[in-house]
Parts: sequence; structure tokens; C-alpha cells
Amino acid sequence: MNSARCPDSARQRKHDVRNERFSHRIAMIRSRSIPKPPPDPKRAATICEPVLGSRFPASFNVEFALWAVDTFTKLNDRVIDPFAGSGTTALGATIRGRFSELLEINPPWVLYSEARLCSMDSARELRKKCLRVCDTQDARGVLESALGPDAPVEIVLAGASILAAVRERSRPRLGTNHSWPKLDVTRPFQPDSKAIRRQVSRYIWHARWLHDLSRWKSRALVFCADAADEEARSSKWKCLISSPPYLSRLDYIRAPWPENLYLNALGVIGELRQLREHQIGGVVLGDPKNREPLPPSIEAMLRTIRDHPSKGSSSYYEPLARSYFQRLQRVFSSLMRTEVGGKTAILVVQDSWYKDLYIPTAKLTARLIRRNGFRLKKTWTFENSGNLLAIHRSARKWRKTSRLKENVMWFER
Ligand SMILES: C[S@@+](CC[C@H](N)C(=O)[O-])C[C@H]1O[C@@H](n2cnc3c(N)ncnc32)[C@H](O)[C@@H]1O
Repeated sequence: MNSARCPDSARQRKHDVRNERFSHRIAMIRSRSIPKPPPDPKRAATICEPVLGSRFPASFNVEFALWAVDTFTKLNDRVIDPFAGSGTTALGATIRGRFSELLEINPPWVLYSEARLCSMDSARELRKKCLRVCDTQDARGVLESALGPDAPVEIVLAGASILAAVRERSRPRLGTNHSWPKLDVTRPFQPDSKAIRRQVSRYIWHARWLHDLSRWKSRALVFCADAADEEARSSKWKCLISSPPYLSRLDYIRAPWPENLYLNALGVIGELRQLREHQIGGVVLGDPKNREPLPPSIEAMLRTIRDHPSKGSSSYYEPLARSYFQRLQRVFSSLMRTEVGGKTAILVVQDSWYKDLYIPTAKLTARLIRRNGFRLKKTWTFENSGNLLAIHRSARKWRKTSRLKENVMWFER
């Protein structure tokens, strides 16, 4: 009996061992292909985040950009961000030796992110050059050349310093509905050298921080452009890392208003109304002619918004949300049109509220990305510690809490 059972159990044991090895190997492969979770994109940065980062109200922290770059790209890959804001994506990419291309519609943010990225050889020399530029050229000349392509580092730093001085002078109060910053443009701002000198030092300090972190010269290009109008700059990008504009969050639209008024008064930029119309997520409705059909889940959400009993739901908020999704759709389809595979997209999207209606903006945005052949691989969700009730007091009427979810979504094609 025993001799008959022995070969069988030996075979069984062998089989079990092989099975165990196989599942162990699968587990190893799986654990390797699942990236480690991202740091909370909106938590305050713990590595030295220099002065300029704090100017932008909705930036993600450098640690998050570094996580995305480390996890999804290799040395010399090209990273893009169609919504640059303060340029954190490019900062992370530059620090890690990747190339990056960014688009941003607001001229002051373009200049600030470029200044954030300037690398430098000798701080003292550069400071002197910047101040000389400010002393010898009129503000308009400095700003015009700083916003043009390939402006030298000292012009960019001087231009950004002038704008930062304008901002400091107008001290916009942010965070309430009634805080559109005002600037007396009938009395044009004369760049006051004390304010500019202070700003130049801050920018230089920032540039030195970046320079110490990375030996790379800046490999980042920041274009001042409407992402919706842009053809994909190059189909060679490997990874898109971005946080699209929020639906109805206004602070980073309002924040650079003094600078925009100033640039407009100097004639460096044109019609401000146009800028407001093209800004995704703003309160001014865009061009209604461009009506591409949206995915059914977004249409269903828009119907729910339209039928909400609140005043203005159908006449204002529904068209606003529609134009938001339509513009995002145009941006993503123009950037992702290429058939080339092997691309990754990392998006940080915050969900929204309309009165008491929760809008799962991240899920709806994911639909737009999936339309372009991308697969959603994973979502990490962070409870946002900020509370919108502090911003919109009238929201108390509609809900007790306005805690929001910040979603990090990973797509592959
Ligand atoms: C959420 S912020 C991006 C923040 C960025 N991730 C950072 O770390 O600073 C979105 C940015 O998109 C910009 N934006 C809005 N509409 C745009 C458009 N049509 N084209 C390009 N940029 C746009 C806004 O000005 C804003 O700076």
C-alpha cells in the first residue's frame, strides 16, 4: 500500500512546489509593475520648495513631480504638461535630467515658471546683470523680450522680478469671491528699484537652489499658448504629467490679474477678455460654436446639473461645465491624436461640487482620456485637507462639508 502511495505523494509534492514557485514569481512580477504610491500632490513640500512655488495657489509639490518622473520616465525622455501653472512638472523633469515642454495661457505664470527654471553659473554676476537690465531698459522692453522665445536668463529673471514687484504692490487678497485684485492702471506702475532688487534676490536664490539640485542646464521649454489651440508640439513625448484647471476654481485665474492688467496697460499683451474666455475652468463662457459631442457619462452629469433647482443652473452653470469638458476634450485629443504607443499620462484631478451636487470630475476626465486609446491603470485618492467653505461662505447653505477628493490617475497606451 505504502509503496503504491509514495510515488503519488511525491508527484503531488513536486507539483505543489512548482505551483508555489510559479505564484511567487507572478507575485514578484506584479509587485515590480505596480509603482509605489505617490506622495499627496497637494501636501506642502518637504524638500526645499523655494519662494516662487508659493506664489501659485494650486501647484502640486515638487515631491509629487519627482515621483511621477522617477516612476514613469527614463533619462532623456520627453515630458509634457499642457497646463503648466507654476511649472512644477518641468522642475521635476529638469532635476531628473528629462526634457520637458509646457504650455500655459497666462503670461505671468509663463514668466514665473521660466524664472523658476533658470539655471545659473555665478549668482553674483547674474544678479548684477539683471539689475543692469532693469536700470537701462524700460519695463516694457524687458517684459516683451522676457516673454519672447529664447530670452537670455537675465532678461527672464528681470522680467519676472518686475511682474513680482507689481504683484507685491497690488497685494491681491485671495480666497473670497469678492477679491478680484485691483490695480490702478491709469497710474502706470514705475518699476521701483527697491522692490525689484528684493525680487531679483529671491529669484536668484531660487535659481541657485535648482542649480544645486541638478547639474543639468534647463531643458525645459515653456510656451505661452492656449493648450486647446495647439497641435501636439511633438509626438515624441513619453509622459504627460499635468493637473488640468479645476472646474470653477478661480484663485489661480484671479491671482495673476494685477500682472495681466499691467502687461495690458503697457501693450505687451492684447485683449484681456480673450484671455478670460480661453481660460479653461474660468467664469467667462467660451466660444459656443465648438460643440463636439461629449461621452454619455458627461452628458448625463450635465443633464443633472441642468435640472438642479438652483437659479442659473440651466442658463449659466450647465453651459459653463459643458464648455469646460469640451475644451479639455479638445486639448487631450490634439495632444494624444498620434497613434504612437508606449505613452503614459499622469493626471491630478480634483472632484468638484455644484451647490449640493457632487461632480466626480476625475472620473469624467478619465472618460476623455480613454477616448484617445489610453487605459486607466490605477487611481490613488487623497482626501483634500483644505475646505472650500473657507472660500465660499455661501456654500454653507448647501452642504455641511466641502471636503474634496484629489485623484491621481495613471493611464497607459
Ligand atoms: C491646476 S493649474 C496647474 C498647476 C501646475 N500643475 C503646478 O504645479 O503649478 C492649471 C493651469 O492651467 C492654466 N490654463 C487654463 N486654461 C488654459 C488653456 N486653455 N491653455 C493652457 N493653460 C491653461 C491655468 O492658467 C493654470 O495655471
